[in-house]
Amino acid sequence: MEKDEILLLEKAEKTHNLSEEEILVLLKMQDASPLFKCADNVRKLYIGGGVHLRALIEFSNYCKRNCLYCGLRCENKKVQRYRIEPESIIELAKKAKSYGYKTIVLQSGEDAYYSVEKLAFIISEIKKLDIALTLSIGEKTYEEYKAYKEAGADRYLIRIETTDEKLYSKFNPQMSLKNRMLCIENIKRLGYEVGSGIIAGLPRQTLESIAKDILYLKSIPVDMAGIGPFIYHPDTPIEKSEGNFFELSLKIMAVLRLLMPSINIPATTAMESLNPNGRILALQSGANVVMPNATETVYRKFYEIYPGKICLGDSPKHCRFCIEGKITSIERTII
Ligand code: SAM
Ligand code: SF4
Ligand code: FES
Repeated sequence: MEKDEILLLEKAEKTHNLSEEEILVLLKMQDASPLFKCADNVRKLYIGGGVHLRALIEFSNYCKRNCLYCGLRCENKKVQRYRIEPESIIELAKKAKSYGYKTIVLQSGEDAYYSVEKLAFIISEIKKLDIALTLSIGEKTYEEYKAYKEAGADRYLIRIETTDEKLYSKFNPQMSLKNRMLCIENIKRLGYEVGSGIIAGLPRQTLESIAKDILYLKSIPVDMAGIGPFIYHPDTPIEKSEGNFFELSLKIMAVLRLLMPSINIPATTAMESLNPNGRILALQSGANVVMPNATETVYRKFYEIYPGKICLGDSPKHCRFCIEGKITSIERTII
């Protein structure tokens, strides 16, 4: 390991502050195992061995947006679209609770079918189960976010994706980085716990811009930060980008842990989709959250954000106990 890398890791471990240039040095490390070890130590010190489970319910794959990287984009006519009705979403949440989950995450494309009234009904019914509720349903107005909060939603998950303005407008047509940032500010202002994050490995995304993304997440500061390695979907118009985005995602995640020692960091599904041991490696490099799929098996293959997604043929119950086995095998505990 280079001397400047050792010094930077020591500095990050002590101060939890690094400049953009210093973050770049860590992102460029040839052998990143000392970075992963250091992030694991900080996780142990600030969070301990507990792992939070969040049950992910992917309730609709309809989306009015057209993000160039995403298999659910509205112009992808090959997707068979589905929506789960409010009563069935509530039933799925009950089922997830019976498997011991303490948090439900409701995720979808941006689907206007779920009006504020429908969502408020779903949220308030799920909150009767005495369980935490996260929404991940995209960009909404301040008033909409306010209505969901008043109905009982606790957390909101919306990735900034990239803070590089040029890339953002290229990959998210008819959307703007400015509005995405405004959504995150509004969510924070309304008292939600804020989850955000980025996609790592988009074509022409630079390490310099990723260093800026990390500092942006710290400036909010977010309560949770998730990193998804970009996985090319052949039914989307984006170009393929070359590189090892699993390793890159782990590095970004580890730097986030050093800079924000107490936040929640998920070992993401996309990480495991690229590496069969991805979530365990992430849990050993700074992560402390896993979001197992709690959607009924019949729908899973249609929520194809990217190909090769794990758990497509599995049931909510199977995933719940599969993940428990993995977590306990590394002597960590579910909390
Ligand atoms: N529609 C909501 C939104 O965009 O915030 C929530 C659902 S969206 C499918 C969840 C996340 O999927 C996005 O924030 C994006 O980071 C990720 N995603 C989409 N396409 C991807 C791809 N090809 N590879 C990796 N992650 C991807
Ligand atoms: Fe829709 Fe979200 Fe996919 Fe963009 S990333 S197309 S908003 S589901
Ligand atoms: Fe779904 Fe392991 S978590 S099969």
